[in-house]
Amino acid sequence: MKPIPPRAGQVLLPALLLWIAAAGVAHAEDEIGKVARATGPGHAAIASAHPAATAAGFEILAQGGNAFDAAVAVSAALSVAEPHSSGIGGGGFFLLHQAADKSSVFVDARETAPGAATRDMYLDENGEPVRRASLSGPLAAGIPGLPAALEHIANKYGRLPLEQSLAPAIRLAREGLPVTEGSQRLLRAVPRMGSPSPAFLEIFMPDGEAPPVGALIRRPDLADTLENLSTQGAAGFYTGPRAELLVKGVRDAGGIWSMEDLAAYRIIERQPVRFRYGEVEVTTAPPPSAGGVALAQVFNMLGHRSYAQLEDPARTHLLVEAIRRAYRDRAEYLGDPDFVPVPVERLTHPWYADGLLASVRMDRATPSDTLPGPVSQRPLGTDTSHFSVLDKDGNRAAVTQTINTLFGSGFVPPGTGVILNNEMDDFSVKRGTPNAFGLVHSHANGIEPGKRMLSSMTPTFLESERGLAILGTPGGSRIVTMVLLGALAWMDGADAEGIVSLPRVHHQYIPDSLSFEAGAMDEDLQAALAELGHTLRESSRPWGNMQAITLEYADGTLTAASDPRRNGGSDVR
Ligand code: GLY
Repeated sequence: MKPIPPRAGQVLLPALLLWIAAAGVAHAEDEIGKVARATGPGHAAIASAHPAATAAGFEILAQGGNAFDAAVAVSAALSVAEPHSSGIGGGGFFLLHQAADKSSVFVDARETAPGAATRDMYLDENGEPVRRASLSGPLAAGIPGLPAALEHIANKYGRLPLEQSLAPAIRLAREGLPVTEGSQRLLRAVPRMGSPSPAFLEIFMPDGEAPPVGALIRRPDLADTLENLSTQGAAGFYTGPRAELLVKGVRDAGGIWSMEDLAAYRIIERQPVRFRYGEVEVTTAPPPSAGGVALAQVFNMLGHRSYAQLEDPARTHLLVEAIRRAYRDRAEYLGDPDFVPVPVERLTHPWYADGLLASVRMDRATPSDTLPGPVSQRPLGTDTSHFSVLDKDGNRAAVTQTINTLFGSGFVPPGTGVILNNEMDDFSVKRGTPNAFGLVHSHANGIEPGKRMLSSMTPTFLESERGLAILGTPGGSRIVTMVLLGALAWMDGADAEGIVSLPRVHHQYIPDSLSFEAGAMDEDLQAALAELGHTLRESSRPWGNMQAITLEYADGTLTAASDPRRNGGSDVR
């Protein structure tokens, strides 16, 4: 299916096509644009942050795979094609829906703290956080979850062997991808992210600087690691010679991983958070994601104050006040539910929303510091990736995966090709003090061996009699508001293209400011909100990289769309 012609601001990036063409792969990535539509039964759709990953998913569908096999292929291909965002050295959340029995499951492949991790491991002798200690180098890396998830999903939900679904990613790693202007810009930012390891520099900056546009970056070590995974399953990553390379590399450079940590890693299948907003059923991410609980809280509050009937500025004001309270609760209560009691039922109960609403005044913004809670909060890093898949039988996958900030920890254990995450920074490094790049939480998100760090990743399904939507995005702590706004847009009638291109607003309790992208609010609305006491801040940069699919039941229109802000690829075939 040919993509519809891109609109202004949604142009295909020639450099991206060069990347693909020069890779010599012949799976029609050059057909993949930002938005694609088809009408009628029998189509599949994929939206991801890289056309080569979208093509990998379609390649696997064409071989008889289902949405879950395609999800494995897309996830692994993103490890190669989008190395700054996510990969097998990190983790992710897979929200899956099986059409046959209409069941949904949440596969939690979040990283875990190593066994030797301690609550104060990033503090100096004065009890102060050591700058970038939880962000750079192997000490910043949690035990990866993605390899275990790929095997689990292929074996339990897929139709094809893991080996087949990983083949496109292995080919991409061996053949290489050329540097684009975009990837060169990201590589130029590398020196600012700390001290990338020698093996990292060997791969990405062999001459000591970002390679020229068009230069091929091949990943033979990563291809070998993926091949081990493909032939031996998760055991080929978490045990044996590959695991020894990973652990030796980490420990030689001052990290604390052990062979036992890797061997002990397990994905966890969890019940998604589910709730209704009007006629819409929302299925989304449970803890250790903070996203689903926050969405349920905000929608409960909006429902109780007839948000849909409100006009601006009351509408945006109520939205912001609801978000403010949900993010406060996140900071106070959320953590790994296997380590701390997270009161999900209470927080998501409609009566609890009534309690939160009692403090909302429609004539005045509530200063965040008048709400009890931890003291400070800043946006999390934004280098994460989301993709959405729907196959022709109605199986769906919404997947958000991450190595945390740009190129994760910047550490590659020699001989593995795997960029390790710096997800340890998503823990609360010290109660009451903002860590270098994250949220301040209560002890609920403190570091403990084997514990999963809290995440904002919020892969989500929406369904009503009208149709369905599959969505998610990277964007750190803004993920939840972006998914919320996308869901509200879908409820107002938008399709995938409308959802991903919507200008965005964000509030996160503290800092107590309402930030917004250019074009998100006109001057009258800005003035009215300022009058109510909101502090407004226009962002100089766009946020997120949403990848969405929508299906209209009435006429069968299927739309896949990639965020116009970045270089993703969507198709319907
Ligand atoms: N590392 C970003 C997140 O999980 O929220």
